Amino acid sequence: MLPTKMNPQFIYLMLFLPSMIVLSQNSAYPSLYGDDEGSCGNSPALLVDVPRDKNITAEVMKSLNIPKGVKRVLFRTLNTDRRLMWKKQFDTSYVGFMKDGAQWLKDNTGIKLVGIDYLSVAAYDDLIPSHLVFLENRDIILVEGLKLEDIEAGIYNVHCLPLRLLGAEGSPIRCILIK
Ligand SMILES: *[C@@H]1O[C@H](CO)[C@@H](O)[C@H](O)[C@H]1NC(C)=O
Repeated sequence: MLPTKMNPQFIYLMLFLPSMIVLSQNSAYPSLYGDDEGSCGNSPALLVDVPRDKNITAEVMKSLNIPKGVKRVLFRTLNTDRRLMWKKQFDTSYVGFMKDGAQWLKDNTGIKLVGIDYLSVAAYDDLIPSHLVFLENRDIILVEGLKLEDIEAGIYNVHCLPLRLLGAEGSPIRCILIK
C-alpha cells in the first residue's frame, strides 16, 4: 500500500509482508524496544537516497555523508524507482550492499539499524559476504522489504514491531515512519 497522508504533520507508511527484520541468533542481542542503540521502536531514523547508478559500495557509503551519531538509516535506492517490491517475480538485479559497503558502514559509522527497499540488504552478488559483515558483531538490525515511495528524505521516528517468536533470528514486521 502506498503511504497515505493522514494529516499534514504525519506520514504514515504501511509496509506489508514480506518486510522482515533479521537478527543474528544470540540471547545478548540488543532489545528491539526501548532506547538501546539498536532498538527499532520509536527511535529517530534517517531516510537517505542512494545514487541510482550503483550498488552500495564503500565509495557510495562515503559519498552519502551520513552525519555522525545517526544510528538508524533507511536506504532508498533504484529498487524503489523500479518498484521492485511490487513485482511478483524475484529480481536478482536489485540494489543492495556490496561487502565493502557493509564493512565501511561498520568501520566508519555508528549505524545500528539498516533498512532497505528490497528483500535483502545485501546485493545478490555479495549476498553471503555482506550479511556476514553486518551480522558478525550481532549489533546491527537489518530491516528488509521496505516500501519507501513518496516520502521525503529526512529524519523520522521509526517504529518497527517484530513478533515475539521464540528462538527466531528474524520476524515479519510492520514498520511505520512518523514525522
Ligand atoms: C547491483 O548489483 C546487482 C548484482 O548483485 C546487479 O545485477 C545490478 O546491475 C547492480 N545495480 C547497479 C545499479 O549497479
